[in-house]
Amino acid sequence: MEFAQLLESRRSIRQYKPQMRISEDQIKVMIDAAIQAPTWKNSQTGRYYVAMSEDAMNFIKNQCLPEFNANNCQNAVAIIITAYETKRSGFERDGSPTNELGDKWGVYDLGLQNENLVLKARETGYDTLIMGIRDVTKLRERFGIPESQEIVSVISVGVRENDPPKPNRKAPEDVTKFF
Ligand SMILES: Cc1cc2nc3c(=O)[nH]c(=O)nc-3n(C[C@H](O)[C@H](O)[C@H](O)COP(=O)(O)O)c2cc1C
Repeated sequence: MEFAQLLESRRSIRQYKPQMRISEDQIKVMIDAAIQAPTWKNSQTGRYYVAMSEDAMNFIKNQCLPEFNANNCQNAVAIIITAYETKRSGFERDGSPTNELGDKWGVYDLGLQNENLVLKARETGYDTLIMGIRDVTKLRERFGIPESQEIVSVISVGVRENDPPKPNRKAPEDVTKFF
């Protein structure tokens, strides 16, 4: 798929087709795309926990997401918890932050990685919804996510049931100053 078409056709999808499937290998293709993103000193601190069984996905939907988000990922084929190892990206070898942003660089890197992931999903025939409203305590406990990692978003993966309209975007002039 052309890059422009990929960018244009990716949407947050809140209704997935029933009875679809995905393999671990297909998920790995998406995660490999994520790993290709640039990261602070190539630190690659993004981590992924992939729920694919009914049991694991139901736990996330029923226990870790608000009702509206859970409803939006009915028929998802996978739900990916995204996290990053803290105190590495944006930090010196002695453990001190390189500048005022500290661990925000880890979030920055994970965002770059996750954009690659959702675009690769789209390219390979799947769609996604990034969710920022989730219960990290329950996710951490159920999936054994160590305290050294910060849990950021949960991303549902599925096959779109419909083509939602594109939410408005600002124009480059709205967000840019040239000097
Ligand atoms: C960090 C982040 C958190 C988000 N959290 C949610 C969420 O909890 N629930 C939801 O329905 N959409 C969520 N979204 C999706 C946004 O609403 C969506 O990306 C935005 O409206 C633009 O629409 P588009 O993705 O179709 O271009 C989130 C997106 C991002 C990047």
